[in-house]
Amino acid sequence: MRTKYKQWAVDYLDEHPELVVRDLDLSDDFFKKPISIEIGPGKGEFILGKANANPDINFLAVEKNRTVAGQMSKILVESGVKNVRVCPLDFSKVCEVFSKEFFENIYLNFVDPWPKKKHAKRRLTFITFLNKYYEMLKSGGRIYFKSDNDILYEFTLEELAKTKFIVEENLLDYKFDEANDVMTGYETKFRGLGQPIHRIVVRK
Ligand SMILES: C[S@@+](CC[C@H](N)C(=O)[O-])C[C@H]1O[C@@H](n2cnc3c(N)ncnc32)[C@H](O)[C@@H]1O
Repeated sequence: MRTKYKQWAVDYLDEHPELVVRDLDLSDDFFKKPISIEIGPGKGEFILGKANANPDINFLAVEKNRTVAGQMSKILVESGVKNVRVCPLDFSKVCEVFSKEFFENIYLNFVDPWPKKKHAKRRLTFITFLNKYYEMLKSGGRIYFKSDNDILYEFTLEELAKTKFIVEENLLDYKFDEANDVMTGYETKFRGLGQPIHRIVVRK
């Protein structure tokens, strides 16, 4: 879905340097605590819920759409949550910054399916991304993937089979696990339409 450019949201990013990080200075105290990352968080419903439920973990939200990142930032600031930072950049442009064994977990929720085969390399579960995630994750760390999209789901399983990840969960019709999971914005919409949600959990 296309988001209309909103100047206020883009300005909001500049106005909140305490939340928004562009240069990803990993020597900052924020990055010294255990940290998890969500790539493509949208308006941040999921990461806000996760951060509130896990105050001892810090969360990094990498969202490439600046309008969406600004909208998320406003929601996060108004919530008062302290253990989240927003990076308003494309993950593929910043991923080299992260050292090996950096993250506890990686969350990929309803990431863009790029349905045309010629765009497969852009999918966030393309093999080069999966290999990068393997490197970035601590031993025992997990990727949590949810999607409504059949093509992306099948593709992700095929790509995972080329890696050393261990598949712990693979559900075509994932019933929401309220005690341990948080519903994302897209998930709420798709569940409302009665669409099955696919979920894959893998461990390093
Ligand atoms: C379909 S939306 C899903 C939003 C949210 N995760 C949810 O489930 O409600 C996908 C989001 O991922 C972002 N995105 C896509 N590719 C990205 C990338 N390479 N780096 C950072 N964000 C990305 C898009 O801008 C968009 O906001």
